[in-house]
Amino acid sequence: MTATRYATPLREGGSLPGLMEADDLGTWVVKFHGAGQGVKALLAEVVAGELARALGFAVPELVVIDVDPELGRVEPDQEIQELLRASPGANLGMDYLPGSITYDPLAFTVDAGLAARVLWLDALVLNVDRSWRNPNLLLWGGRLWLIDHGAALYPHHDWTRAKGTLDRALPQWNQHVLLPAAGELAVSLPAADAALAPAVTEELLRDVLALVPDAWFGIDANADADAARYVDWLHTRVSGSRPWVTAMLATDRPTRSADRGTGPPEWLRRRLPSRPAHAPTTSPPAPGRHRDGDHGSNGCEDGRRSADDRATDNTAGDGRTADGRAGDDRAGDSRG
Ligand SMILES: Nc1ncnc2c1ncn2[C@@H]1O[C@H](COP(=O)(O)OP(=O)(O)OP(=O)(O)O)[C@@H](O)[C@H]1O
Ligand SMILES: [Mg+2]
Repeated sequence: MTATRYATPLREGGSLPGLMEADDLGTWVVKFHGAGQGVKALLAEVVAGELARALGFAVPELVVIDVDPELGRVEPDQEIQELLRASPGANLGMDYLPGSITYDPLAFTVDAGLAARVLWLDALVLNVDRSWRNPNLLLWGGRLWLIDHGAALYPHHDWTRAKGTLDRALPQWNQHVLLPAAGELAVSLPAADAALAPAVTEELLRDVLALVPDAWFGIDANADADAARYVDWLHTRVSGSRPWVTAMLATDRPTRSADRGTGPPEWLRRRLPSRPAHAPTTSPPAPGRHRDGDHGSNGCEDGRRSADDRATDNTAGDGRTADGRAGDDRAGDSRG
């Protein structure tokens, strides 16, 4: 895939991602290897993103996109010119989801099973970037899409110390944006663990690493040996006793006083459902409930609720969505 035009910067992104058109006539969110986050952020995007996809989460298509720095020559913004100049060759393209909106825990419900699975995934890959401040979740076509995994796998910045991170719990997991939606963790997290851990095989990890372009491992690196480090680290992490899972079960729910000062601000806590839906599986939604282009529910309510609905959040507190329905827990199973 080759970029043909730089369209516009994406204002929200710290790494200055841009919207680019490509020779497939598609529009791609492009993240550049010359950005301050460095090429390892692109590597983490591919490894965590493709692993997530393989586990059934909705992740926009990822491609390697060839960028000619000349495309930046007509760009009036000097910062963008410099970014393109610093990023010749292989960069990361992510399918642009037009009209998508950022997940807002006050306005949308996600079923407990899906929320716990996302929490589990982020804990496995040590993705510290899915907090209530910065959800990195998009709603589009009635589904919840996982984006921005550039901060995951942070031990890869220093492999000499990575051994010490094999059992590490997700830092600040109590600020994970989907934690309030995950219901009783004692129920939802072991279920997520049982469903996902056996699927993270060495073979799958090797397949995922094979999607990373050699250039991203560094000029002097042995790409195969480097890829094996990721496979080993992830496989060791998932195939052991997984103390990074039990760490989240051992602690009290962080919406309680124990973490005062580290969680969402008080006004937000009060508005988050105190005991959101977990598990009660409803029958599949009636045909026609979803909009065109919906590929099936992945457990996220397919639309913004009304202000009135949201206003009931304070009082519901009984584990149901504002309109009284429990979440649909088939999700995460977004294959197909
Ligand atoms: N595939 C996509 N489709 C539509 N919008 C997107 C897509 N990817 C990213 N965006 C939008 O661009 C914003 C920035 O993207 P992203 O979070 O991936 O960049 P980033 O530079 O890693 O950001 P940060 O580090 O600040 O979180 C997202 O919050 C979202 O609003
Ligand atoms: Mg982001």
